[in-house]
Amino acid sequence: MYQGLLQSSANNIVWHQSAVNRGRREMMNRHRSINLWFSGLSGSGKSTLAHAVEERLHLLGCRTYVFDGDNVRHGLCSDLTFSEQDRSENIRRIAEMVKLFLDAGVIAITAFISPLKKDRDRVKQLLGPGNHMLIYCRCPLAVCEARDVKGLYKKARAGEIRNYTGISSPFEAPADADLVLDTGGGQSLAECVELIVRRLVQQDIVMGLGEKRQISRG
Ligand code: ADX
Repeated sequence: MYQGLLQSSANNIVWHQSAVNRGRREMMNRHRSINLWFSGLSGSGKSTLAHAVEERLHLLGCRTYVFDGDNVRHGLCSDLTFSEQDRSENIRRIAEMVKLFLDAGVIAITAFISPLKKDRDRVKQLLGPGNHMLIYCRCPLAVCEARDVKGLYKKARAGEIRNYTGISSPFEAPADADLVLDTGGGQSLAECVELIVRRLVQQDIVMGLGEKRQISRG
């Protein structure tokens, strides 16, 4: 059998191994790929922070992509509601997508409420150690609600939206986050970005400005 093909006996599906692999792509990129997974209530600043981190990494010459809950629910996940079951399916699809992006050598940045520990644990397990950083955007519900950028908290309080996270649907705050950021006013956006980028440099995922080390896998 051709070496690039991996047969799955269960369902006759064959995985094609690419000779151009993640390690080679990472070498070319001069950075490793990783998933930065932002979790937090709606309005906690996940998307703002995700895009600010992307901007910073882009300026450092990194290949990045931001997946955002609201955007992904316009397309890939437009068939899903906010029931517990559909939220799980939402997170499962994103995790599978992120896995492909990691293989593509990209720093995949994801901003999803991801309210349940069981779903976040599944992401961590699927992606594996070293491939995933869980970042909790800690912001009190009262602050998110006062911001109410999209006007959805008001509607949820009025009973016009069902299963709204924090109001009529649970949010299990991550107790096992790799990084906890106080996005409710405790830390500025610039400080949060700095903490994340510093962590990526410390872990040899990306090189700081001016460094010329070779990034290699394995
Ligand atoms: S998740 O729970 O499945 O992770 P996701 O991050 O994709 O949620 O989507 C959250 C966004 O959808 C919110 O920022 C908000 O704009 C919008 N939204 C609409 N209805 C709800 C709801 N019932 N609960 C939470 N967010 C909602």
